[in-house]
Amino acid sequence: MKELVSINDQIYSIKEAKISVFDRGFLFGDAVYEVTRSYGRIFFQIEDHIDRLFNSADNINMNLGRTKEQMIAHIYEIYKKIDIDNIYMRIQISRGDGPIGMSPKLVKTPNEVIYMYPFQPSPGEYYSQGVSICVTERRRNAKRALDPNIKSGNYLNNVLAFIEGEKINAYETFMVNAQGHVTEGTTSNIFMVKGKTIITPPEEYDILKGITRKIVIGIAQNEKFKIEEKGFGLEELLDADEVFLTSSTREIMPIRLINQNKVSAPGAATRILHSKYKEFINDYCKRAASTHPWK
Ligand code: PDD
Repeated sequence: MKELVSINDQIYSIKEAKISVFDRGFLFGDAVYEVTRSYGRIFFQIEDHIDRLFNSADNINMNLGRTKEQMIAHIYEIYKKIDIDNIYMRIQISRGDGPIGMSPKLVKTPNEVIYMYPFQPSPGEYYSQGVSICVTERRRNAKRALDPNIKSGNYLNNVLAFIEGEKINAYETFMVNAQGHVTEGTTSNIFMVKGKTIITPPEEYDILKGITRKIVIGIAQNEKFKIEEKGFGLEELLDADEVFLTSSTREIMPIRLINQNKVSAPGAATRILHSKYKEFINDYCKRAASTHPWK
């Protein structure tokens, strides 16, 4: 098979895959999810993604019914049914389906959906020339309201921001906090470069603790950049030497335009970090190929 959807351990084609209209993910966004991709037959940083999935689930009082090791083994078991190397994998687990009502006690077991299909890389010119982004005035959900570090099935905050950016043909849109500081994109984190310093909003901000973000910070330190995790607004961002976004599916992507203002892209720092990131992926995959018990 080239693509599939697994629903509660049953395999379906993408066309056949269906979920109940009483599913709480559909009704309330009462769900958690993760996205990663495989390079060759290896799911990149799968342990970190599963850790974050369990953290998201814990934070909404949802029991996933498996250990982390069992979850990874289960994902690899499903992957055996697919005979292509580079795939997109999304695991989405809702609290389950039952009578309509707020109480999670109305449902018994979660609904687990795993999507696997060929990974579609972003066009090469996005990396060679950079992309256009929007920084909107829309606030990112505050931690005390709906912590962005819970990767939940409720992405309406992000969808609304994205709609605003689409009006100026932005590829990605970034939200702000109450101080007007940039937080994160709808599905990515942000970095700016000023000389030899790399600046990114701190973890305490209303952001998802990106797995790519963490790797990039480590690489930047190895490459003798100074890292500052601190807040900044649109003005500072426009003044940066280089700006880039990070995510598991896009790796490190340079930014060329911000609210239709030109910034340099892609600069030397972005290029170095991206080439080191690719080395990191290769090393991870080589190591995992010989040590992962799941394969
Ligand atoms: N998005 N911030 C948000 C809101 C995200 O949804 C994501 C990931 C990130 C980057 O995190 P990471 O580096 O761990 O992928 C930041 C995934 C790719 C998605 O929803 O498709």
